[in-house]
Amino acid sequence: MRNVIEAKGLKLAYPRHEPVITDATFRVETNQFVFVTGASGSGKSTLLKSMYGAMEIAGGELSVGGMDMRATTGSKLYKLRRHIGIVFQDYKLIKEWTVERNVMLPLMIAGFPKNVCLAQATKLLHHVKLSHKADKYPMELSGGEQQRVAMARALAHNPFLILADEPTGNLDNYSSQVVWDLLERANQELETTVVVVTHHIPEMFNADFRHLMIENGVIYDIR
Ligand SMILES: Nc1ncnc2c1ncn2[C@@H]1O[C@H](COP(=O)(O)OP(=O)(O)O)[C@@H](O)[C@H]1O
Ligand SMILES: [Mg+2]
Repeated sequence: MRNVIEAKGLKLAYPRHEPVITDATFRVETNQFVFVTGASGSGKSTLLKSMYGAMEIAGGELSVGGMDMRATTGSKLYKLRRHIGIVFQDYKLIKEWTVERNVMLPLMIAGFPKNVCLAQATKLLHHVKLSHKADKYPMELSGGEQQRVAMARALAHNPFLILADEPTGNLDNYSSQVVWDLLERANQELETTVVVVTHHIPEMFNADFRHLMIENGVIYDIR
């Protein structure tokens, strides 16, 4: 699959509202790392939502992982989402569950045996430098640590695509660095395609990357 995401004249609108995105035409190929930037309210989160089927397509075309998103609903959408890792700004960890169990969640849903889930969670918690917090509950962690758990969870099922919405928005420098390193490693070592909405492209970002910018409803493919 060469094109992981393909948009042609894509238009996105919330019901009974003027379109947020009026014209998006771009392609994201396998293993690319893409930054999406734009002013606050320009439609960055809206664009990201469309990539996991949480926005109705108001016009044009969008395909993700070879699936036509206009026709991907119900169980087809559910199946596609099982192969996408999603990281939001507001973590969405399950607060009654330990850190370790939170990371195991996507694999348990996918039906893997418990020992496989546990081994994968242990490995990923090591990557986000939180092995020592495996038995803690989300509330016992700092915001940065919670976001790193969310990152580990998003990667647990080896997704072909990671969608991250301002993943370092509220984080201290150390946690931001851990998150960027992990995204970069997932991209380079696991060949995961990464689309990340950010205010600011990190200066120390080493890997080759793409850059899509949103302005007045139009997506500019600037790199
Ligand atoms: N659920 C919604 N219903 C109606 N309008 C929305 C909804 N969510 C966001 N919007 C509007 O869509 C526009 C783009 O929002 P968003 O994609 O969240 O911007 P960004 O992530 O770039 O800050 C904004 O004008 C926002 O007010
Ligand atoms: Mg947003």
